[in-house]
Amino acid sequence: MQAWVIGNWKQNPATSHDVKALLDDLLTAVSSKEQSDIAACQLMVAPSFIHLTAVNERLKGSSVLCAAQDISAHSASTGAYTGDCSAQQIADAGATWTILGHSERRQYHQESHDCLLQKMTHALTQNLGVIFCIGETQAQYDAKQTLAVIDAQLAVIKDLLTQQPELIEGLPARLIIAYEPVWAIGTGKVPTVAEVSATHQHIKQTLASFNAALDNMTVLYGGSVNADNADSFAADSMIDGALVGGASLKAESFLAIAQAFSRAMA
Ligand code: 13P
Repeated sequence: MQAWVIGNWKQNPATSHDVKALLDDLLTAVSSKEQSDIAACQLMVAPSFIHLTAVNERLKGSSVLCAAQDISAHSASTGAYTGDCSAQQIADAGATWTILGHSERRQYHQESHDCLLQKMTHALTQNLGVIFCIGETQAQYDAKQTLAVIDAQLAVIKDLLTQQPELIEGLPARLIIAYEPVWAIGTGKVPTVAEVSATHQHIKQTLASFNAALDNMTVLYGGSVNADNADSFAADSMIDGALVGGASLKAESFLAIAQAFSRAMA
């Protein structure tokens, strides 16, 4: 097994100049690391749409993958959908993955079950891998509803396979779940490793119950992961990597997180 450490840059950096500087730092750090230092860790970055093409050009020949942060729900290719960017356009820009269902999309864009089902179908039919984000709010956590919330969010995958059973082909290698408690995102607050571990175990069992091919799927933790706490998450066998926001905007902290997960795989 390999670990995955994915940087979700969100609406950062502000300029293409700063994107280039971040990538230069990242690629310099990657190439200067001992091969074995991050060998067991697959790195990926998810820039804004506007920077996707340039980032992909710069990453050519490196081991770092590139993802979009979202895709259009309306069409997998083209259409009259002002402001949208389709799965086909994302793939054409060179990205091989997309994040879907991030809590910021669910919160600010009211992304629903049906919307995410559409997006997931479009991504997979255009051969994009999907990093599907799930997680409970603070109020849901306090009310001990975490697993119920997660079950409802994972039902998108269940419905996808009911509607289009042929999509199971290749899905194990093209689906990653990112468990991100909303209350842990950008707050510095984190659940205990034991809590994350139990939730990840539940996610893995739920996916396997949808289809035997989804046995032991990759499940990442996201929410205030940094260079200081990465080791503790990495040490747990249920945590297959991290989806990183703030700490992915500096090459040094992003690589430190990758090293933590790579070490833990050894
Ligand atoms: P932070 O690492 O900044 O908490 O963000 C996590 C996140 O939302 C990644 O998708």
